[in-house]
Amino acid sequence: MFNFDEIIDRKGTDCIKYDSLLNTYGRDDLGSFWIADMDFRTPGFITDAIKKRLEHPIFGYPCVPDDYYRIISGWVGSTHGWQVDSDHIRYIPGIVKGIAFAERCFLHPGDKVVIQPPVYHPFRNTTLACGFEVVENPMLPVYDSEGYLTGYEVDFAGLEHICADPTVKMMILANPHNPCGIAWDAATLQGIAEITRRNGVLVISDEIHGEMVLDGNLHIPFASVSKDAAANSIVFMAPSKTFNIAGIVSSYCIIEDAGIRDRFFNYIASCEIDFPSIFSIVATRAAYTRGGQWRQEMLEYVSGNIDFVDSWLRGHVKGIRAVRPQASFLIWLDCRKLGLSHDGLIDLFVNKAHLALNDGAMFGAEGDGFMRLNVGCPRSMLKAALESLEKAL
Ligand SMILES: Cc1ncc(COP(=O)(O)O)c(C=O)c1O
Repeated sequence: MFNFDEIIDRKGTDCIKYDSLLNTYGRDDLGSFWIADMDFRTPGFITDAIKKRLEHPIFGYPCVPDDYYRIISGWVGSTHGWQVDSDHIRYIPGIVKGIAFAERCFLHPGDKVVIQPPVYHPFRNTTLACGFEVVENPMLPVYDSEGYLTGYEVDFAGLEHICADPTVKMMILANPHNPCGIAWDAATLQGIAEITRRNGVLVISDEIHGEMVLDGNLHIPFASVSKDAAANSIVFMAPSKTFNIAGIVSSYCIIEDAGIRDRFFNYIASCEIDFPSIFSIVATRAAYTRGGQWRQEMLEYVSGNIDFVDSWLRGHVKGIRAVRPQASFLIWLDCRKLGLSHDGLIDLFVNKAHLALNDGAMFGAEGDGFMRLNVGCPRSMLKAALESLEKAL
């Protein structure tokens, strides 16, 4: 049994989550539940492997070991039931960077990229920064009988309409979805694959949260759902969220189609960004060969945290409801019934409850009235946060 209740002081380790509160929120006396890394100790089988490598005193250029892509392919096969050829996998130095490289590789001036807000904000920011236009196909909200959000569906009519524009050349998909934690089902992914392929819109499927499906939900890799999907996509994955090693940078892409693969692999090779650092190799190998049990226990703990937040909000707070995620450690909180303005909601969380969460509006206008809560932390921290929130209300 691993211990996820341990509280570890991260302040002073140059981590964004704690050491940039002042810059981000204007004060640092806040409980930190925003950016998406966890407060759990990185498992010992990873830190031990790194320590072992540190015993050798030279840190020169690494080479990619023979087993590296075989280990990744084995993990993807056993975790998601997707058999991929290890030659179809390449390291990339972060998924957001991978998206930017894919845009620069495949798009031309004037091309447009579809995103489905509310969605992980770098999809928009990176696309704009790379000089391309963003076209939004907002997701369709689903409500319960009390008017609280329970999830979203893809607007297929909207997607069809947008993809018919010949200048729309790429779609960025969050699978599973961030911030709402939806593990998209096969029919949804097949529908997206059919429309995008027919219209020549390349799909970039960001699956960084895919290893963190909860409560018996399945992660379905986009490229695995149909021939259309395999022939027209780049899938990005990583062990970084699951094993809390985002700072080590250990992402990779998987491309089934030979034409897309050759073009992208050549592009990233020409930029010399397609080989891992010493520590990415060591950490990925340890995570993907020894991490199965830890992952299971971590997911059970996170699921317990979600139960805790969900029932606590129902019992103590009128006007805020958790949208239960099917994947990962982020909870989309529907706060609209508090009736606060955007600034009022931020003021409640930051200045009154002393809590740093992600403001829902950063994921798109559709996120206004929502907050994103990171529950990848010891339950006692969540309890303290919820008590502060109740007091503030
Ligand atoms: C959907 C999604 N994609 C990508 C990232 C960041 O990935 P990377 O650090 O590999 O760029 C995050 C981090 O929160 C995320 O939630």
